[in-house]
Amino acid sequence: MSTASKGLSEPINPAAVPRRRLYTGAAMPAVGLGTFGSDHVTPAQVAEAVKGAAAVGYRHFDCASVYGNEAEIGASLEAIQAGGVKREGLWVTSKLWNDKHNDVIASCRKSLADLRLDYLDLYLVHWPFPNFHPPGCDVTSRSASAKPYIHENYMKTWRKMEELVDMGLVRHIGTSNMTIPKLKLVLRDARIKPAVNEMELHPHFQQPDLFKFVVENGMQPIGYCPIGSPGRPERDRTPEDTAPTEDPVIVEIARRHAIHPAVVCIKWAVQRGQTPIPFSIHNYPANLAGVFGTPLTGEEMREIAAIDRNCRLIKGQVFLWKDGQSWEALWDTDGEITPP
Ligand SMILES: NC(=O)c1ccc[n+]([C@@H]2O[C@H](COP(=O)([O-])OP(=O)(O)OC[C@H]3O[C@@H](n4cnc5c(N)ncnc54)[C@H](OP(=O)(O)O)[C@@H]3O)[C@@H](O)[C@H]2O)c1
Repeated sequence: MSTASKGLSEPINPAAVPRRRLYTGAAMPAVGLGTFGSDHVTPAQVAEAVKGAAAVGYRHFDCASVYGNEAEIGASLEAIQAGGVKREGLWVTSKLWNDKHNDVIASCRKSLADLRLDYLDLYLVHWPFPNFHPPGCDVTSRSASAKPYIHENYMKTWRKMEELVDMGLVRHIGTSNMTIPKLKLVLRDARIKPAVNEMELHPHFQQPDLFKFVVENGMQPIGYCPIGSPGRPERDRTPEDTAPTEDPVIVEIARRHAIHPAVVCIKWAVQRGQTPIPFSIHNYPANLAGVFGTPLTGEEMREIAAIDRNCRLIKGQVFLWKDGQSWEALWDTDGEITPP
């Protein structure tokens, strides 16, 4: 039996899963499977979940080289295709890691080789900050090579991302962990505009201004940590963090619909218009099934809109480039790009 037994009596027809239309006309499944094992779920377990998820109807997989499991996921993707799913029926994303901003083409080729694919549907610049930090390092650790956002440098990386599209290795390119001031510059200077922005989005961190900006500028918002990342590594936790799945509003809506609070978060995300990419090795059937069934009512959507706490869970402390800085510097909270 698969690791995921909860939440689904029969597979969902992938064609019935809602899709987001990108500016190229391509259609991206409006819910995907996250694949970051948060340092405690092994590559083999994630790869097994990818196969299990495909069997119950997932077609969208959010990968990244830094998750350290693309080779194992590649074997699953190959098996899924050997089982009859066509490559065009899959949506596979990967991401350029922070220490490879000057090595875009080779990094993409490495992800393609690991994932056993000829092309990616989407390739993202994972973070807009070049740096190197060893996997699993403490939040207080700072990298000597850490750099702030310098637009000219980001655009050098972006030119290579554009080249990947020209080369046919990648169908779409996008950004992640960006802010409005940074995106404005990229949109001004890009030859091939970002098709998506991947960003933290859950009921306690709704980012309404950035969400609106992304949509109004023709990008699709992809929402990470859609459940509030209950399994995130210890280094990504602070005492101020809250859990959307424990919010009384979410708990009450879950009770009413007889579903898990996590599934309420997924329903809300899809109905609001973002593409959630929940990670799961045990509960992924329920998350996909959540897209179907009784929708949340207008009143329930309004209740959830009202519980935003502006509670960012993934603060990115290790990417700071100067001693004494607070993580807010990464997020341009005063509306301007934080100066070097
Ligand atoms: N672009 C970026 O910088 C960035 C940053 C962070 C994350 N991401 C992406 O976003 C994905 C999702 O974020 P995340 O993994 O941090 O957090 P998440 O999806 O919010 O939460 C995942 C956790 O929720 C549990 N869960 C999932 N569905 C559940 C359900 N129906 N009932 C109960 N528990 C449930 C999972 O446990 P089980 O496994 O036991 O089901 C897992 O521990 C990542 O895997 C990654 O692909 C991207």
